[in-house]
Amino acid sequence: MEPLEELKAFLRFQSISTQPEHAPDLTSCAEWLRNKLMAIGLNAKVHATSGSPVVVASTPRDPAKRTVLIYGHYDVQPPDPLQGWTTPPFEPRVEAGRIYARGAADNKGQILAHILGVAETLGEKGSLPVNVIFLIEGEEEIGSPNLADFLRAHKEDLACDLVAISDTAMAPGNQPALTYALRGIAAMELLVRGPARDLHSGLFGGAVANPATVLARLLASLHDAEGRVLIPGFYDAVRPLEPWERDAAADLEKASGGDAAIKELAGVSELVGEKGFTTIERIGARPTAEVNGIGGGYQGEGTKTVLPKEAFAKLTFRLVADQDPEVILTAAEEYLRSQTPPGVLLEVVTGHSGDAYQSDPHSPDGLAARKALAGAFGAEPLLLRDGGSIPILATLKEILGVDSYLLGLANPDSRIHSPDENMLIENFLGGIRMNRILLEELGKAG
Ligand code: BES
Ligand code: ZN
Repeated sequence: MEPLEELKAFLRFQSISTQPEHAPDLTSCAEWLRNKLMAIGLNAKVHATSGSPVVVASTPRDPAKRTVLIYGHYDVQPPDPLQGWTTPPFEPRVEAGRIYARGAADNKGQILAHILGVAETLGEKGSLPVNVIFLIEGEEEIGSPNLADFLRAHKEDLACDLVAISDTAMAPGNQPALTYALRGIAAMELLVRGPARDLHSGLFGGAVANPATVLARLLASLHDAEGRVLIPGFYDAVRPLEPWERDAAADLEKASGGDAAIKELAGVSELVGEKGFTTIERIGARPTAEVNGIGGGYQGEGTKTVLPKEAFAKLTFRLVADQDPEVILTAAEEYLRSQTPPGVLLEVVTGHSGDAYQSDPHSPDGLAARKALAGAFGAEPLLLRDGGSIPILATLKEILGVDSYLLGLANPDSRIHSPDENMLIENFLGGIRMNRILLEELGKAG
C-alpha cells in the first residue's frame, strides 16, 4: 500500500483517549498497528493495561548493535469543536499537499513515518543498522497514567541506548529543527461554591458573594499587568538560559520570521508576555499559568438574571527545568486560598503533571539526530526549546536511564489539538527518509 493510503487507514480510527466510549476504537487502532508492525517483519504485541493498550514491536536483539527505542502515541485529542472542521475529522482528506484529519500530525503521521522508514530499510537490506524497539502508547493525550508502571514491568525488554521521538514540530517556516527541551505541566481545577442554589440576582445581588466574580478575581490574581506569575516562589527553581541557548533562540528568531510569523500562526494582532524575554524564549524557556476553560452561570440564549451557585476553571501551568510540579501545585493552591474572600468555598482538585525535559543537542546522539534531519530535509536543523509537554520523557530517563531526542515532523501550522489538524505530505514522506538516515547515523554514533 502507498504510504499515504496507510496513513489514511490509521487516521480513520477514532482513538480519542479522553472519552471512555472510544475504548473499542483505541483497541482496534492498537491491533491495526500490531498487524502493520508484524507485516513489516517485527515481533509485535498488544499489551493490555488498566487503560488503553500499549503496542510494543522489536527486531531480534543483536548484542553487537546499539538499541534505539522509538516512542509514539496512537491516541488523539477530541476533535471538538466540530463546527471548526472543513470536512469530518476522521475522514482523512488530501488537499494542496496536506492531509487533514484529527491525529494527522499529533501523532499518527509522525510515528507512521518511522514505521515506514524501518519497513523500507528492512525491505531493501533485510536488516537494520541498530536494534529497534517501537513503543506506541494510547494515553499520551491524558498524561500517560499507566505507562510508568508498564515501563517498570518491562524494563529488560525495553532496555535501550536512547529514545527517538517525532511528536513535536519543525521551526517556523517549516525548517527542520532538533527540539532539545520541552516544558513540564501541572494541571488544576478550581471550583468556587457560593449559595446553596442559583439565586435571583435582583433579590440577592450586592449582598451575596458571586462565585463567578470571585473566580474571575482569583484568575486575574495569577499574573501582574506584565504577564509575570504572582504565585510566591513560582520562579525559584527556574534554571536560567545558558548563553548558547540565548544564541540559538536568536538564530531561530532570525531564521523564522520573528514575531510576525508567530502572530500569523496564532491569528492575533499583538503578542504579550513576560518582560526581558523574546517570544521564542517565553514559549520555550519560561514557565506560565494558563486558564484552559472557565464556566458557571447561565449559558443559554438571552438574559437570565441569576447569581450562580458556583463557577469553575481549569488551569495548567507549563513548567521548565528544574521546577517541581508538586511544589508548584501546592504553592498555587496556597496562594489562591489566600486570595479567596469569605462567603465562598474554594475547592481545588489537582490533575496530571509531568516534569520538564532537556537533552543535549551537542552529544554524539544529538549530532546524529541533526545529521538525519539535515539529510532528509536539505537544511541544517535549528535548535529548539518547544513549549508543549511530553511528560513521559522524564519518566523514560528515570526508569530506563536514557536520553530522548526529539525530531519533530509536524509543520508549525499543523493545528494540532485544533480543528483542521493537518500534516504536510512532504514532511510525512521526509520523515520516512529521516528515519532511515537516523538509524544509520545512530548505528555509527555508539
Ligand atoms: N505532541 C504533543 C506535544 C508537543 C507538540 C510538544 C508540539 C511540542 C510541540 C503532545 O501530544 C501533547 O499534546 N502533549 C500534551 C501533554 C499532556 C496532555 C500531558 C500537551 O503538551 O498539552
Ligand atoms: Zn497532543
